[in-house]
Amino acid sequence: MTHSLTIRRPDDWHLHLRDGAMLQAVLPETARHFARAIIMPNLVPPVVKGDHAAAYRDRILAALPDGMTFEPLMTLYLTEDTDAEDMAAAHASGLVKAVKLYPAGATTNSASGVRDFDKVRGVLEKMAEIGLPLCVHGEVTDAEIDIFDREAVFIDRVLDPIRKATPGLRVVMEHITTSNGVEYVKANDTDLGATITTHHLIINRNHLLVGGIRPHYYCLPVAKREEHRLALRAAATSGDVRFFLGTDSAPHTDPNKLSDCGCAGCFTAPNTMSLLAHVFEEEGALDKLEGFASLNGPAFYKLPVNSETITLTKGDVAEFPDKIETGDGPVTVFDPGFPVHWHVTA
Ligand code: DOR
Ligand code: ZN
Repeated sequence: MTHSLTIRRPDDWHLHLRDGAMLQAVLPETARHFARAIIMPNLVPPVVKGDHAAAYRDRILAALPDGMTFEPLMTLYLTEDTDAEDMAAAHASGLVKAVKLYPAGATTNSASGVRDFDKVRGVLEKMAEIGLPLCVHGEVTDAEIDIFDREAVFIDRVLDPIRKATPGLRVVMEHITTSNGVEYVKANDTDLGATITTHHLIINRNHLLVGGIRPHYYCLPVAKREEHRLALRAAATSGDVRFFLGTDSAPHTDPNKLSDCGCAGCFTAPNTMSLLAHVFEEEGALDKLEGFASLNGPAFYKLPVNSETITLTKGDVAEFPDKIETGDGPVTVFDPGFPVHWHVTA
C-alpha cells in the first residue's frame, strides 16, 4: 500500500481569489500547495481589459505573504464589447493566459457576460489566430431549461456551434459535471480540454439535498446524479491528458451562503490536495494524480511543468479548519463528509 507520494507541484487551472480582505485571507490557502492558478475575472466590476488584469495581478502579488511564491495566470472576462486588440496585446505581453466566457446570468457576477454569441465572433476568431484559450462556463441560462440539464444543452446549442464556426479555437470546458461533458471532450481533439473540480468528484445532488439542504455544497454548475459523478471520477483518474484540475474554489462568507438566496461556491483551496489523494486512492489511481494535478494543465496551456515537488503522506485523520476567518467574515471550508488521511507534508 502506498503511504507517500511525491509529485510535481500542482497548479489550479480555475480559481476564484476575489479581492481586498477576502483575497488577503484566501490566497495563502492556495499558495501553500499550488505554484500557479488561472485566476477567474468575475470581480465587481469584472476584469475586462488588459490594464484591469495587470492591476489585479499586482494586488494578488501584494497580498502574498512573505516567503510564499505563487504565479497568478490572469484571464479577461469576455463581454460583447471586448476589444480584440487590447486582448491580443495583453496576451502578447505574457500577462493574459485565457479569456473567460460566462453566459450572461449563469453564475456569480455574470451579468456582464455574453447574451448574443454573434457579437463575440470576431474576438473568438482573433483568439483562434493567436492561440489564446477560451475558458467556458458551460451552462445555458434559458429559464425553461432545467438547471440539471443546462450543461448538456449548452454543449449542443452553444459550444459545439462555436467550435465548428471557429476552427483552431482552443477551449477549456470549465468544471464539467456530467457524463455528457466527459463524452464531448473525449470525442474531440486536443484543442478541447476540461477542468474538473475536487468537490464534483466527491458530491452528487443527494449530498446537497437529502436530509436537509446543505448550502455549503451548493455550487454552479450544480452537482448532478451519481452516474455523472462516477463519469467524472473515471475521466479524472483515466490518465487522459485532456482532463485536469481546476478547483473552482469559490469563497463566500457564511452570511452570504446561509441566506434566503445563498451564493454558489465551494471553498476547497485548503484541503483539495488531501481530498484528491483520497479520491485517487479510492479509484486505485494514485499514479494518475500527478498527471491530473500537475502535468496535463501545463500541457494544455503550453507552459512548463513546475520543477518543485510536493509530498503527500498517509497517516492519522487529517484535521482541517471548519472555517477560515477573513476581514469580510468567516468562510466555511468544504467538508467531504468522510475522514481523510492524506497530508501534504512537504
Ligand atoms: O459555484 C460557483 N461559484 N460557480 C461559479 O461558476 C462561480 C463561482 C463564484 O464565483 O462564486
Ligand atoms: Zn468558477
